[in-house]
Amino acid sequence: MANWTQTSKELLGPVMSVETWLPTEMPEYAQGFMYMLGSLTASSFVACVGSGIVLAMNGAASWSYNDAMRFVAATHFWSVQAFFFFMMLHLWRVFFTGAWRGGRGMTWVLGAIAFLVAVPTAFTGFLINGDLYSQWNAVQAKDGINALGLGWVNLSNAGQMFGMHVVVMPLILTVIIGAHITLVRLKSVVPPYPTGRDAAEPTPVGKGGR
Ligand code: HEM
Repeated sequence: MANWTQTSKELLGPVMSVETWLPTEMPEYAQGFMYMLGSLTASSFVACVGSGIVLAMNGAASWSYNDAMRFVAATHFWSVQAFFFFMMLHLWRVFFTGAWRGGRGMTWVLGAIAFLVAVPTAFTGFLINGDLYSQWNAVQAKDGINALGLGWVNLSNAGQMFGMHVVVMPLILTVIIGAHITLVRLKSVVPPYPTGRDAAEPTPVGKGGR
């Protein structure tokens, strides 16, 4: 008979195993810089969340208090630039290596969703600056959101945008990125497209199966 503990053990076993998270060998083709772009995206995200936590702890206007806080705010801004820069390069790499092959479709879909969620996460950050630029953006985007029938998303409500930017969106993004990287660990990195005689062979299914 089905048993929750047994089912959880079977499902979580491969996800939590030391083999999955601390592999001691890497395929030859995954050693190049192109295969570091995902990790650079993830590292920029960590820097972004870390600096964001310091900003949030000190209060919405704290970025202007002193040099130390201006440094934290600059770190937050530049880590977002790095995050999107590396994510785009990573997206090109996974596109040109056909990284959805061999049972990696869900890894691809989660990456694409991470991208789609990252854009409004950054946008809500612009909206809580409070300057003329952010107020102008809020009012213009509110018209667009209203036209979509999503009136409850009030972009001119700074409190709602603060909660979205500081809590809701980063949490959603963290879960999606976590699931994306978990799938990469379970399925491993895609082998290069076969060439010559091997070209007729299908891509071998990733570690852990479909
Ligand atoms: C939030 C942004 C993202 C992060 C942090 C991230 C992170 C990673 C990491 C660390 C890897 C391991 C291999 C490598 O580093 O190249 C990877 C692989 C992969 N990523 Fe992403 N990724 C992101 C966005 C995307 C996007 C936008 C797509 C595509 C729409 C995507 C599709 C894939 C696929 C299919 C793989 C697995 C196959 C392979 O590595 O060859 N990712 N990702």
